[in-house]
Amino acid sequence: MTENIIDLKKITVEFKDGENQVQAVKNVDLQVEKGDIYGIVGYSGAGKSTLVRVINLLQKPTAGEVHINKQDLLQLKPVELRQARTKIGMIFQHFNLMKSRTILGNVEYPLLKTKLSKSERTKRATELLKLVGLEQRKNDYPRQLSGGQKQRVAIARALANNPDILISDEATSALDPKTTLSILNLLKQLNETLGLTIVLITHEMQAVKEICNHVAVMQKGEIVERGDIEEIFSTPKKKLTQEFINIATNVGPAVEKVTENPSFQQLTQKQQLVQLNFIGQSTEQPIISTLAKQFDVDGNILFANVEQLHEETLGFMILVLTGENQNITKAIQFLKDNQVRVKLLNKVDKKEVQA
Ligand SMILES: Nc1ncnc2c1ncn2[C@@H]1O[C@H](COP(=O)(O)OP(=O)(O)OP(=O)(O)O)[C@@H](O)[C@H]1O
Ligand SMILES: [Mg+2]
Repeated sequence: MTENIIDLKKITVEFKDGENQVQAVKNVDLQVEKGDIYGIVGYSGAGKSTLVRVINLLQKPTAGEVHINKQDLLQLKPVELRQARTKIGMIFQHFNLMKSRTILGNVEYPLLKTKLSKSERTKRATELLKLVGLEQRKNDYPRQLSGGQKQRVAIARALANNPDILISDEATSALDPKTTLSILNLLKQLNETLGLTIVLITHEMQAVKEICNHVAVMQKGEIVERGDIEEIFSTPKKKLTQEFINIATNVGPAVEKVTENPSFQQLTQKQQLVQLNFIGQSTEQPIISTLAKQFDVDGNILFANVEQLHEETLGFMILVLTGENQNITKAIQFLKDNQVRVKLLNKVDKKEVQA
């Protein structure tokens, strides 16, 4: 049986803001299994940072329970809590490196509080820098490094005390897409080689898609949807989740482009614009040619994208179907019978209507 290394129960966090009471997190349960890479996605102000700061009690919840590694953190004595916290590493958007210390000095810093000797600290920090691919730069200062390299140093530092959990709060938000990918790949590699459990906070579903196996979507202090990454990407239920996925898969911008194009307004009575989502098996079937052969409906592809998520293949397509109305209806039913999700893109008010 898999065990929950993080188990947050009914967490509420309230802030007093002058006269106002802000509920940053509202009655949230969160379970993360050991070895997970768990994404938490949401727009600014959703409560993501507040929620993850509860994991190491940097933020004390107003109500709820915090169980980490089977320890009830709220019941620990200060010295026990300090010990428990060393097993939870954290990295941020701004790397928070110490300017006056070398790269090696930065990574050694959290080890100063341990019983290790100077030479043992240096050995450990050097190993960590090797792990993140920066051994050669150990005598440099932070200002001599790029953003991506600084984040690698921050990761090495966060791993100094051999944590079980690494929390990444928008750690790639200040980086370009290529550097982002290299940092995400490093996190994935650390997850696999060290068995590190990772909680990845981001406002980009793209980052989640790259490495997470679970994801929760946060809005106004609540988790509005959560699940396996394949399940969330193939059948998102909430509008907000769909929005995040549409951006990550480029479907959103494509729908916008297509529906804003004047030719969309000129579709005839015998044409219907549809958005299709394929999962697994159905991506392998010659669906479009079947529509023509079996239903006399032509499919003109305006956009197509295939995403590989772990073992699962997901396909996204925007099509103009041309044929007699009743044939189009039958064709759409055929698609649905073959596990294809069909969304009609309505011509009149540009509103997307569920078929
Ligand atoms: N110390 C605080 N005092 C008062 N209000 C706070 C405090 N910290 C956070 N908040 C409020 O709680 C809400 C959630 O903030 P939080 O920082 O958790 O959001 P977030 O999802 O991490 O956003 P972002 O993506 O911008 O980092 C916001 O409305 C914020 O203004
Ligand atoms: Mg935040």
